[in-house]
Amino acid sequence: MTPGAKPVVVVTRRLPARVESELAAHFDARLNESDTPLSGAALRAAMRDADAMLCTVTDRIDAVVLAPGALRCRVLANFGVGFDHVDVTAARERGIVVTNTPDVLTEATADLTIALMLAVARRIGEGERLVRAGEWHGWAPTAMLGRMVSGATLGIIGYGRIGRAVAARAQHGFGMRVLFHTPHPPADTAGAEPCGSLEELLAASDFVSLHCRAMPETRHLIDRRHLGMMHPRAYLINTARGEIVDEAALADALRTRRIAGAALDVHAREPEVSAELLALENVVLLPHLGSATEETRVAMGLRALDNLRAFFAGGVPPDRVA
Ligand code: DGY
Repeated sequence: MTPGAKPVVVVTRRLPARVESELAAHFDARLNESDTPLSGAALRAAMRDADAMLCTVTDRIDAVVLAPGALRCRVLANFGVGFDHVDVTAARERGIVVTNTPDVLTEATADLTIALMLAVARRIGEGERLVRAGEWHGWAPTAMLGRMVSGATLGIIGYGRIGRAVAARAQHGFGMRVLFHTPHPPADTAGAEPCGSLEELLAASDFVSLHCRAMPETRHLIDRRHLGMMHPRAYLINTARGEIVDEAALADALRTRRIAGAALDVHAREPEVSAELLALENVVLLPHLGSATEETRVAMGLRALDNLRAFFAGGVPPDRVA
């Protein structure tokens, strides 16, 4: 970098205006005006030509993008808490620092998780489709009956920041009993009950909500066998990552009513959504909206900016993950 020059930061997607102007004030920011996701070749070129990249979940920063060669990029600031789309091992090998944006999206994602529980159990998507299709012919005592969220048992898989925020809403807002299963249970469980095994949690829950990280160990964690352990009246909620669920097995379980329903904000091959799931009524499907509030997306951008500023000031970025 020429002395006195601002670091070049490639920003892979459009960000809220306030974030883009702050980035432009502090860096030589190369913004993506068209908002078209970058190809593998463009990501590779950014690694070669820029000092930093501010990337998102839509960028696959894999071993090819990070292949050895003349890489100028020294830091990848991910706009998001999940960083499964970044090959952190390859980044580490090339000496590239990786950061994420924890905390600032916890509440928004927890809110959406509750919205999904209500949507699937109270058949909100189905009801809306009925009304819009002009097929609602009036109130009836037995029409479109759903199931209660209040007072039900919620099983949380992965009891980190978002899992705990969901637990608090469920307990205090809906009087739910909350169970959780996590590899490292916290000392303070905030009133939720630890389950020794995943199997125990699946069998005891009316709602199973996924809040674990996507990694090789959690790929298809919810498979045919585990779906078979859920109660036929139970619902599966996923605001974590699509890869955690075997979507073909889930579609079978929903079609045969092995479980009552599912609500998914995330999908295994985004933006593609399983055609089998699209054909079913008892699943709510959203386009990855967990953190999609104006306040949250600004906070995520500013957090990524803080990480970049700390790095280029010679410090350790606060949210370094690799
Ligand atoms: C996250 O922060 O991980 C969201 O899913 C968007 O990437």
